[in-house]
Amino acid sequence: MERQELAADPKAQTVGPVILLGAPGAGKGTQAKLIAQRYGIPQISTGDLLRDHVTRGTELGRKAKAVMERGELVPDNLVCDMVAERLNRPDCGRGFILDGFPRTVAQAQWLDQFLTGNLFENKAVSKIRPLVINIAVGYNQLWKRLTGRRSCPTCGRIYNVYFSPSRVADICDVDGAKLITRRDDSEEVISQRLKAYERQTLPLAEYYRGQGQLREVDGERDVNTVSAATLETIEHGDRL
Ligand code: AP5
Repeated sequence: MERQELAADPKAQTVGPVILLGAPGAGKGTQAKLIAQRYGIPQISTGDLLRDHVTRGTELGRKAKAVMERGELVPDNLVCDMVAERLNRPDCGRGFILDGFPRTVAQAQWLDQFLTGNLFENKAVSKIRPLVINIAVGYNQLWKRLTGRRSCPTCGRIYNVYFSPSRVADICDVDGAKLITRRDDSEEVISQRLKAYERQTLPLAEYYRGQGQLREVDGERDVNTVSAATLETIEHGDRL
């Protein structure tokens, strides 16, 4: 099924599932927030969901904490159960953006099966195959983006000391909260995360290319240019 032409009101449009692929620091979270805002559909970030479980000290959070601190991937079955629970909520009815999921071929196969069932109230969404957008960024740029990242613990806004600093150092422009550095953004853990990406997530691009679902966006450019290219791909991706 083809995605619809751009509706006059993007928030009335059925967008379908969008998967953002890319290395740690590629800009998945930054772009996912902009897409979510434009279309009024949820950003489903498995990293954010897992960090929330860790903060709340749930059973899943206790299992995931040490794995995340080492920069490794949380086991597929735990992550898939968490995603299933999230996708079954009614706000996914017009579409959703997956940010950081799937991350292994096993997770992608699970998602294909999950989406095959008529799980969504809006049947159109169940029939739209996910559009997979790979945000490509080189290693040096990734490193700078990850070591320079700061985020607001209250509103979730993401900053970067090199590329998009807050007006006052370490203070959120929106709500004045003190910005934090993610625990896994230390140099040692970044290097493990990049290794896990190369070993376990890179093969996903081939998986989706083989199914004709993969689109590429050059993620080295500034946020607005990447965003324009990403939105263009969502609106016209099936006809490329
Ligand atoms: P997760 O939270 O998903 O981290 P990640 O994939 O490593 O991705 P990041 O959030 O670090 O980067 P991003 O691509 O979102 O970039 P961002 O927009 O923030 O996962 C964390 C951990 O959870 C994993 O290591 C794993 O343990 C576990 N996990 C999560 N999902 C899992 C799964 N499916 N299976 C198993 N385990 C899982 O941008 C980064 C910085 O760059 C920011 O400072 C931003 O301001 C800046 N920036 C962004 N775009 C640009 C641009 N165009 N120009 C300049 N700067 C930019």
